Amino acid sequence: MAFTVAIDGPAAAGKGTISRAVAQRFGFSHLDTGLLYRAVGAKVADGADPVAACDLSASDLARDDLRSLAAGQAASEVAVMAPVRAALVAFQRRFADAPEGAVLDGRDIGTVICPDAPVKLFVTASPEVRADRRWREVGGDLEDVLAEVRARDARDMGRKDAPLRPADDAHILDTSDMSIEEAVAYACALVASVRV
Ligand code: DC
Repeated sequence: MAFTVAIDGPAAAGKGTISRAVAQRFGFSHLDTGLLYRAVGAKVADGADPVAACDLSASDLARDDLRSLAAGQAASEVAVMAPVRAALVAFQRRFADAPEGAVLDGRDIGTVICPDAPVKLFVTASPEVRADRRWREVGGDLEDVLAEVRARDARDMGRKDAPLRPADDAHILDTSDMSIEEAVAYACALVASVRV
């Protein structure tokens, strides 16, 4: 039976690194669902219709501009559109059914996409810590990066459809004062304790 690990949280909390490490440790497939929204946002920024843009090809997902701050904002903007969210549900659920097990990371995996996932983790950290981490990756002005993190938090948490929030049965992991090794160890121990 498929075994799904749902990992949610705000931008730059560490969920991508934790998800990749959990997938590797347990031999699960990994889907970074933010990448789907980034690819849709990039196509919309290029002039595509938002719902048509949800028909994603491998090359849409391989664009080299999807990791930029601008792509993150564009993703957050299309992510408030209910028809865009609806168009991406089936793909994510199919992925979650991978026979070898799957880790999905995003904003609404534990609440909407896989509400029955046996492991749910909500990874968070203070806005300042997350902005500092993102700034070390992308450079630029730290205050601008912090403003971008706060703007994205507000939009992701405030939207009507599938807002960012922990599922009632999610384990909360605040990585503000943790090393990545500690955070990965916590997540792997949690998965190991559930997966008998
Ligand atoms: O995880 P990320 O930073 O790549 O996500 C980019 C944006 O996509 C995020 O600000 C909100 C949106 N998103 C979403 O609404 N639901 C998801 N499951 C994943 C991402």
